[in-house]
Amino acid sequence: MKQIVPSFCSSSFLLISRLLAIFLCISPTQSRFSVKIGNDVLSQICAQTEDRNSCLKALQSDPRTASTNLYGLAQISINLANATATETKTKIKSQLGQTTDPNLYDKYLHCLDSYVNAVSKINYANERWSIKDFLALEAAASDCLIDINTCKDVTTPASPFLPQQNDKSHLLCSAMLTIAKRLAAGNN
Ligand SMILES: *[C@@H]1O[C@H](CO)[C@@H](O)[C@H](O)[C@H]1NC(C)=O
Repeated sequence: MKQIVPSFCSSSFLLISRLLAIFLCISPTQSRFSVKIGNDVLSQICAQTEDRNSCLKALQSDPRTASTNLYGLAQISINLANATATETKTKIKSQLGQTTDPNLYDKYLHCLDSYVNAVSKINYANERWSIKDFLALEAAASDCLIDINTCKDVTTPASPFLPQQNDKSHLLCSAMLTIAKRLAAGNN
């Protein structure tokens, strides 16, 4: 008995200190981004975009949002921005083939260029996201907004879809930017 107690104590002490060491090594990197996104944080993120309610609606339209962390939410915003910008690009292309008004044709051509660039920024953002380069992700999201603005600025269109698509694309890149900023700052 006299020998069992001390050896039990020292072995459990060893075990506990090992666990503690493992925990201390893992937690600084893991806990930073592993927290599930709550509605409060989602609200805060969307409040920093130009349209809080549409932002919430868009992010929550993806079922992954309910159970993901900030890192996962970044990719959701990237995927949503990609889908909308790609859709806009496709619509502009198809309008180009049908437009007879030379003024409108020029505007569509200009916007096609903007959206080709925006889509490539979004896909670059995804590459940076995958290697956790959050500063570059932030820069790419910001570039995406600039590209979309060059189409917004030029358009006073008799276009049936462009103003709406511009707003939606702008909002999603704006959500991407807000999330990227939080990741870059190390916030949850
Ligand atoms: C963007 O959409 C295109 C076309 O659907 C797809 O091929 C590409 O993988 C998407 N990229 C991202 C980052 O979602």
